[in-house]
Amino acid sequence: MSETSAKTDFFIIKALEDGVNVIGLTRGTNTRFHHSENLDKGEVMIAQFTEHTSAVKIRGKALIKSAHGEIESGGKESTSE
Ligand code: TRP
Repeated sequence: MSETSAKTDFFIIKALEDGVNVIGLTRGTNTRFHHSENLDKGEVMIAQFTEHTSAVKIRGKALIKSAHGEIESGGKESTSE
């Protein structure tokens, strides 16, 4: 991975309900879960993509902010979001 903004930019995840899962997925040929973080309502995680982490999956209702903008993930029960 080249030393671009991908490695220096932070993204912010704020849980909008209890039990939000932030799951880190590995970089490279094998894409697997390597880390799971649980956030309760109001808790904030500030993270970067790294040489170990190339993707993040978020389960539950959360607000996600990055240099690309802002998006809200849907709640676990919601079907339309
Ligand atoms: N040890 C992991 C890493 O350096 C920690 C990590 C960084 C992480 N960014 C993440 C875990 C995003 C979950 C989601 O890659």
